[in-house]
Amino acid sequence: MDPSSKGRPQTPQYDPTITDKVIAATGPNAHPRLAQVMPSLVRHLHDFAREVNLTVAEWTAAVDMINECGKMSDDRRNETQLLCDIIGLESLVDEITSKMLATSMSETPSAILGPFYRQDAPLLSNGDSIVNLSPSVSWYEQAIADSAFLTGRVVSGRSGMPIKGAVVDVWHTAPNGLYEQQDESQPDMNMRGRFATDADGRYSLYALRPVAYPIPDDGPAGRLLAMLDRHPYRPGHIHFIVSASGFRTLTTQVFDDRDEYITNDSVFAVKDELVVKFKPRDGDSKALWTLEYDFVLGSQEI
Ligand code: DHB
Ligand code: FE
Repeated sequence: MDPSSKGRPQTPQYDPTITDKVIAATGPNAHPRLAQVMPSLVRHLHDFAREVNLTVAEWTAAVDMINECGKMSDDRRNETQLLCDIIGLESLVDEITSKMLATSMSETPSAILGPFYRQDAPLLSNGDSIVNLSPSVSWYEQAIADSAFLTGRVVSGRSGMPIKGAVVDVWHTAPNGLYEQQDESQPDMNMRGRFATDADGRYSLYALRPVAYPIPDDGPAGRLLAMLDRHPYRPGHIHFIVSASGFRTLTTQVFDDRDEYITNDSVFAVKDELVVKFKPRDGDSKALWTLEYDFVLGSQEI
């Protein structure tokens, strides 16, 4: 017997008509999309509650948790989103959305935006570095060891042709696992930049091989992870938003294949096509590694 059902009735008889009554309460002038999705939501929620014999105490704990998430969220932290992320909901919704809008099979898969994107990253030239490195930081040596040249092309999924003037917006953490807005020791907008592709559709920049880091785990989402005996780590990743006129904007991440968490992402964002291999780079005093990665964009829906 499942220990969680100890002391609870094995074949409870709950009044099943409540579900149909709630659904039938929807009026004729309901918002059309809500009229479509709410019956399904209500049915799944009610079935869930009946299946696990959900008690008032448990439901109250869940309501308190969601309230706490809302109270601690602001423009620097989104705890409710984090809660969705650790149960895979944002990754699932991201996959549904990008597959619904896909116009070709070859498009680079999307991945979730995550909570640390900042608009208006510096506009840089191809070949520039997004890394502002001071010898005084504790992670200086690791930044040298992980120095990397990133390059690739942005191409059309439909024609395979390179796209000139596409904007590659890129961001990642420092080797201490912190994004610049989480970290007093980094200058504003460090490890962030925007690059426009050249006539061959090519972007290039200096950055760092990414490191694994824990999602913020000092709130309700972190408590839930601990209660589920789960770790908070994300595999090392680099975020990208790739946009070009006439094409669907691609939000994605690439994951370094050296990372031990690659098969065990706390927010379930890894996809095979997004796992990359950095290669040793010879003869470049600015980088010890190279990554070549092409982005394939879908066409804009009309
Ligand atoms: C999440 C995503 C990230 O890319 C990140 O760096 C931290 C957290 C998230 O999905 O919650
Ligand atoms: Fe991230």
